[in-house]
Amino acid sequence: MQNYKLETGRYSRIEFIAKKTEEPCGFIRLHLGNELVGEYYFKFKGYESYAFDLQKQTEYFVEISGLEFSLCYLCGQENILEEGVKFLTFKENEIIFSGEDGPEKEYEQEFRNRFHFSPYKNWMNDPNGLCFFQGYYHLFYQYNPNGLQWGNMHWGHAVSKDLVHWRHLPVALYPQIELLDAEEFRGGAFSGSAVIRENRMHLFFTRHFGKTDRSWQRQWQMTCISEDGVHFSQETVAVWGTPEGVYYDFRDPKVIEENGVFHMILGGTVHHVPAILDYISEDLDVWNYNGVIFEEKDPAYGISECPDIYPLGGKYVLTAGYIYAHPEQKKSRQDTKYYIGTWENGRFKAEAEGIYDYGRDFYAVQSFEHNGRRISIGWNNGVNEMPGEGSSNGTASIPREMRLENGRLLMTPAEEMRLLEEKPADVRGKVKGLKGYRLEAELPENFKGIFYLAQNECQKVTLTIDGNVIKLITGKEEDACVFHGESYIKDLDVFVDRSLIEIFVNKGAHTCTRRYYLAGQEDGISFDFESDKKVKSLTVKPMKGIFGREKYL
Ligand code: FRU
Repeated sequence: MQNYKLETGRYSRIEFIAKKTEEPCGFIRLHLGNELVGEYYFKFKGYESYAFDLQKQTEYFVEISGLEFSLCYLCGQENILEEGVKFLTFKENEIIFSGEDGPEKEYEQEFRNRFHFSPYKNWMNDPNGLCFFQGYYHLFYQYNPNGLQWGNMHWGHAVSKDLVHWRHLPVALYPQIELLDAEEFRGGAFSGSAVIRENRMHLFFTRHFGKTDRSWQRQWQMTCISEDGVHFSQETVAVWGTPEGVYYDFRDPKVIEENGVFHMILGGTVHHVPAILDYISEDLDVWNYNGVIFEEKDPAYGISECPDIYPLGGKYVLTAGYIYAHPEQKKSRQDTKYYIGTWENGRFKAEAEGIYDYGRDFYAVQSFEHNGRRISIGWNNGVNEMPGEGSSNGTASIPREMRLENGRLLMTPAEEMRLLEEKPADVRGKVKGLKGYRLEAELPENFKGIFYLAQNECQKVTLTIDGNVIKLITGKEEDACVFHGESYIKDLDVFVDRSLIEIFVNKGAHTCTRRYYLAGQEDGISFDFESDKKVKSLTVKPMKGIFGREKYL
């Protein structure tokens, strides 16, 4: 049994996820003076969430027995969108809070990215529900707060005023209760999107329930509403049952409004072919099946996931992730593709297509529109085994601004990334001690050179440019990311974070995102380069981290 004093200050609620450590019971009790004002006994074998409403500016005594906490935070204050939640950890005899300036110190770890969004702790995958609502950008994400690997899915939630500095909000969606007791089942709140209508945020997402060994599984679509961007209504079914030819993969609703009609496009397979399905609605309430808008015929691909579609530059852009039909034969498991074309009479016709990012660590991309800009954010895959210390796994990519020019899809880092730049470093010699940086270079025609993006005593991360060929080596030579530009590589915009590199080439004509793990860079990341010709220009700017409170615009 442990006892703590908890001073609530401006917070009016505590939310937590914990599990029992010892039979027969694990519990938490709240006392005000001598009076017991709240108690909860944990019921399940797995992690379980619970919350207490609290009085502000009040001292409580908290009694905890037989519990292991995975996540706990104070919330409910009036300006929660400005400040975010306050995380706390129950230690031996005291409560440790995340700092007054936000949780920045928790992000100071060897492999923890500083200017890419990641959860306060544990696993994230796909960005979900991206939107701009009542003055804030909202980023939801597939979240397992209970471990460093994928697990039953929650929706984590963060907001930003400027698209780069984020505040953590309370978990928005939880896995179904029937998943909490049974290891042979898994699922939760899978990916989905947000649409704003009449000043309300509507979330659409997939619920998954199935055997952990995948021998039996079901997916269906749900919805809920928020009036304030923080609290969500009881969810209801949006689409139940599957159309003919859909056996089970039927997920990741992206809802958009086109010409006064709402479309919900879904990934999955139809008669075993990766396909994008469409449902339509006039009121976001009643949905009718409107057929398959697109099928990907490449036999390498098995299932489509996380589809998105949007108008851009007079055309439509369709994007989707694909799981390989035989993942065991490939180095990576999945690709993201884009298609440019027309969308008429219920069919999308591709006129051009390509790989969205050449780096293999960019997936499940989702976009949203605000003030005439189309912004995309993807997921930079988590790793199966964390290489050493690290309290989170997986990040959201840098927000990318999308454009269509001369039939080409271009993506460039959102202008807001400039807010994080510090004064340029002197690049006449090797630059040492960087915590993360942005490198911009203009190159002469037919340039040959090597940029050493990071290094430790025995290994270097190299970016080699040879005319129109780019090669990024972050580990073994055979795992290099190599791609051919259509013309000479003329400019580079490279972001190097502690364990992630994002490269934009020729004004966003190609991108390449790759994780890397170089141990022993305690002094910071160092940059160096060598070339056969002079570069036209080269700047290296250290980047600030994104979780300090004072840096919020
Ligand atoms: C893509 C994906 C989605 C699914 C989610 C589950 O990474 O497999 O299709 O909704 O992850 O976490």
